[in-house]
Amino acid sequence: MVINVLVLVKPVKELKGKIKISGSKNSCLPIMAISLLTNKKITLNNVPMISDIYDMIKILENIGVKINVYPDKNKITLKRKKIKSELLIDEITKIRASYYIIPGMIAKHNKIKIKYPGGCNFMERPIDYHIDALKKAGAKVFEQEKNMIITKDKLRKNIYSFEKPSVGATINAIMLSIMSKGKSKIINQPIEPEINDFINCLKLMGANIVTNNNEITIIGGKKLNSIIYEIMPDRIELGSYILLGSSTDSEIELSNIRFDSINYLLPYLNNLGIDYQIYKSNKSKIKILIKGKSIVNNIDLIIKHYPSFPTDLQQILSSLLLKANKKSIIEDTVYKKRISHIKELNKMNAKIEYQNEKIHIYPSTLKGTNLYASDLRCGFSLILAAINATGESTIDNFQIINRGYEEIISKLKGIKVQIEILKK
Ligand code: EPZ
Repeated sequence: MVINVLVLVKPVKELKGKIKISGSKNSCLPIMAISLLTNKKITLNNVPMISDIYDMIKILENIGVKINVYPDKNKITLKRKKIKSELLIDEITKIRASYYIIPGMIAKHNKIKIKYPGGCNFMERPIDYHIDALKKAGAKVFEQEKNMIITKDKLRKNIYSFEKPSVGATINAIMLSIMSKGKSKIINQPIEPEINDFINCLKLMGANIVTNNNEITIIGGKKLNSIIYEIMPDRIELGSYILLGSSTDSEIELSNIRFDSINYLLPYLNNLGIDYQIYKSNKSKIKILIKGKSIVNNIDLIIKHYPSFPTDLQQILSSLLLKANKKSIIEDTVYKKRISHIKELNKMNAKIEYQNEKIHIYPSTLKGTNLYASDLRCGFSLILAAINATGESTIDNFQIINRGYEEIISKLKGIKVQIEILKK
């Protein structure tokens, strides 16, 4: 049962402090599903202890994976036991990443039955690419009382491509290929960092995978070895705090990141006129110091797949651009109608509108009011707006932000955001 959380956020003129960036939600979720492809032990470090991860733990334990969780160490271990062929628990419908369990289950059983995946409902999010990939791999997919039934005799190698680049469908196609004998390929797929982290983990476990520009080649049928693996830093959490820090006078140090968590974003930070300094902190990690000036340049932006500015930061950037001194336009080509934040920002007197599939953002003076976080990234965009408003705001359904931001309240307080829980 999800507990509803209401928070109060007060305006703040200056943010100052340090934040340790957590491991990547969108890399950790598929890497956890690798536990279904092998009976060897998998140890994961730098795991973000967030609700989506706990939901994935419940899903995998229910299927038959033995999982030990060490929250204070951000560590989990996973070891497959006997896996079930049916999974109808509600957690499946809570997160979209639950579809990552399909390849491991269908590789083990000739017939499986599972609920449809869920996740942030900021718009219709089909899974037709996943179903096509399963059919190409030799499986049959049909629906029975709102559940998915998938059958197969034998998984076979393939060449996969999707109408639009798809992180989830690519990851599932990689797992189907790992479980099929012979050479498979995935073509026309930009290798997003989270896909790269997933591939890197599999290669360290002995999988035969080669990436070349937008093409992934897999020789399947090999057994995977045990591994101890560190999840990559969360580039979306990092970007969220960079944009937040840029909205006020601020000095914020963000640590536990790697250069590839930030390098693709630097041209956009430069266009926005955001001041930052990057320091080496240890052998593989860097820190970034953000010096916010409470104003940014306006920009016109078309969001595509990696290495473009990411769709997951689009709503947060929309809030920040309300502080620019001229109009900005954003077109999100990955999720055209990722606009759940607009009606909330309009309640704050923000001049922001959706026209001809583009988001038009005008300089605005925001007024604090009662807000509702309808999805994960919308929620973070409202925090940025609330600290830059005149007057207090409340944010209802705040628990949805815990899905993707580890220890968000303590991290925000650590940089002087005035936030408190009103009701749980
Ligand atoms: C992943 O979702 C992320 N989620 C999303 O992050 C992220 O926004 C998205 O990739 C895009 O980068 C996880 O990794 C758990 P897609 P995914 O398949 O894999 C269409 C967050 O906030 N499509 O790359 O589900 C789709 O509608 C979340 O952390 C189909 O049409 O996204 C979209 O337009 C939100 N049919 C485009 O492809 C399909 O079967 C890209 O989606 C699958 C996708």
